[in-house]
Amino acid sequence: MSDNRKRVIVALDNMDKKEVDTFLNEYSSDISIVKIGMELFYRYGREYILAIAQKYKVEIFLDLKLHDIPSTVYKSIRSLEGLPIKFLTIHLSGGNSMVREALRARDNYIKNCKILGVSVLTSLDQSDCNDIWANSSEEVFKNLYKIALNTHIDGIVSSAHELEVAQHLDKNDKNTPLKVCPGIKFATTNDNDQQRVMTPSQAFDQGADYLVIGRAITQDPQVLTKPELFV
Ligand code: C5P
Repeated sequence: MSDNRKRVIVALDNMDKKEVDTFLNEYSSDISIVKIGMELFYRYGREYILAIAQKYKVEIFLDLKLHDIPSTVYKSIRSLEGLPIKFLTIHLSGGNSMVREALRARDNYIKNCKILGVSVLTSLDQSDCNDIWANSSEEVFKNLYKIALNTHIDGIVSSAHELEVAQHLDKNDKNTPLKVCPGIKFATTNDNDQQRVMTPSQAFDQGADYLVIGRAITQDPQVLTKPELFV
């Protein structure tokens, strides 16, 4: 695959094993990376990751969103040793020490994996940010992004709407984390309840390196056979 679909992470949400198999049997040749979240990981475990990677020749984005004391995060990542994971998520709000321990565990146990820090969950609105951090969502994002820059984490997960702020902060820094963005819909999708979504091309234009797309693909998998939708 030599088009932008290489930069799309297909989220395997709301599916059981059988449904995942049906989907990947048909479409794995149009998919480069799949996202396995807590839903599938808690149910089927580490062997499932190995099986999916081997059977369908796809790379794995393991979305565990780790957030705990630094030593627990270190040991959790140690438990992933031996798995073919391309990306693993943690929460930036775990703080500098937790992120550093995650990176140290990666170096020791899953060398080829990139650690991505989740910034502000896109499900949180302004009033949630006030309740949790007594701050605006933009300020919260900036503070979390500074943790990403300080720790030299490999990348962040954020709405493509935050990328302008991130790029502004990147200007003062040599280290520019990868930007991985969910909240993507195709232009043809008729969603009026989603104000913070972007099309693939809008998000790539904003500077996204990778996109996470779930329902817009899994509910209409034919889109995977149309590379032009990802340009
Ligand atoms: O909305 P969609 O089905 O494309 O979601 C795919 C993934 O993106 C979800 O598994 C979730 O982790 C993430 N997501 C998000 N913020 C949203 C919607 C989805 O972070 N507003």
